[in-house]
Amino acid sequence: MGVQNLYPEANSDTTFKASLSPSFKSASRFSVIAKPDLTWTAEVEAATAHLYPKVSKVIPQFEWPLFAPYIKAINELKLQRNAVILAHNYQTPEIFHCVADYVGDSLQLAKLAAQSQADVIVQGGVHFMAETSKILNPSKVVLTPDTKAGCSLAASITASDIRYLRKKYPGVPIIAYVNTSAEVKAEVDICCTSSNAVRVVESLGVKRVILLPDRHLADNVAASTDVEIIPWNGACEVHERFTAEEIMNYRLDHPGLTVIAHPECPKEVVMVSDFSGSTAAMIDYVKKQKPKSVLLVTECSMADNVAAETTGTEFVRPCNLCPHMKRITLPKILDSLLYIREEIIIDPIIAEKAKKSVQRMINLG
Ligand code: 13P
Ligand code: SF4
Repeated sequence: MGVQNLYPEANSDTTFKASLSPSFKSASRFSVIAKPDLTWTAEVEAATAHLYPKVSKVIPQFEWPLFAPYIKAINELKLQRNAVILAHNYQTPEIFHCVADYVGDSLQLAKLAAQSQADVIVQGGVHFMAETSKILNPSKVVLTPDTKAGCSLAASITASDIRYLRKKYPGVPIIAYVNTSAEVKAEVDICCTSSNAVRVVESLGVKRVILLPDRHLADNVAASTDVEIIPWNGACEVHERFTAEEIMNYRLDHPGLTVIAHPECPKEVVMVSDFSGSTAAMIDYVKKQKPKSVLLVTECSMADNVAAETTGTEFVRPCNLCPHMKRITLPKILDSLLYIREEIIIDPIIAEKAKKSVQRMINLG
């Protein structure tokens, strides 16, 4: 069966050249493993039969032979490399449910990375998440399957912007959302995620803080605290596209709809929602409250991942894809493990300073 063409990039060696790769040194410490056969066979079918039920609600049976050979190969390679795969809640269901060892929101992934006993961590997520894993695991090999998996928030601010803010607002603490580069984390006082932003702001015991780079998160946090928030002008290109009018139209079309929004959405969207929280908090809400019909106002793979393991809830699905998250695919994860690429390398001085900001957040509990 001709099933390999779903992933044309997987057969191409043009994306990265090992000889130019910064991961060359680490790659050379690992044994060479031949590329596995990726055809759909009875053996593949049998080895992955226990996994298909996990995704059967969201991946049609006729598509399974496209994914299963990669899933089998990746799960075998993980054992050979003593590797784990961390997958953010926005990863596609075949990654999230079939090859990931740990799944979660940014904070959960950061904590899991810190506890990992593996030699190799493959980050199913965007670049700043892989950097956070490296910051917390300096002695481990942390790999990103695609170095171009960025984030509009992380790209909106640099370390020199932070130095400028320090001069402009002397003495005002600076909090960086984890969706920032290691260089930015190294310059700030503490990090936060969408699940702990209010707690981090209030933990500092001051009247005014700078919370960057997401202006919408800053707006939403400001609505929940008396601390004055000075924002930056960054935004998530996925969440800022949602509008309150769109949400109200969904409500009209689906009477009784429960609406749950990520705090990277504009404040007007959060205000017309029933609940707002990190991706993990959103999932938790659906699992505990079991709404009859729900709209998850966030990246669209998350609804697939939750729908795959939920019964009795209808998912209304607007689809705003994160193009960066979608760069991570099974073939790229396979190549990452096979060729130990692309390794996340951070200047040790920057990594040490960034770690203080991330650890200070984790220490808050
Ligand atoms: P969470 O921390 O809620 O998982 O959000 C990360 C992210 O990038 C959302 O767009
Ligand atoms: Fe960044 Fe938005 Fe994509 Fe999350 S969804 S990784 S914040 S661009």
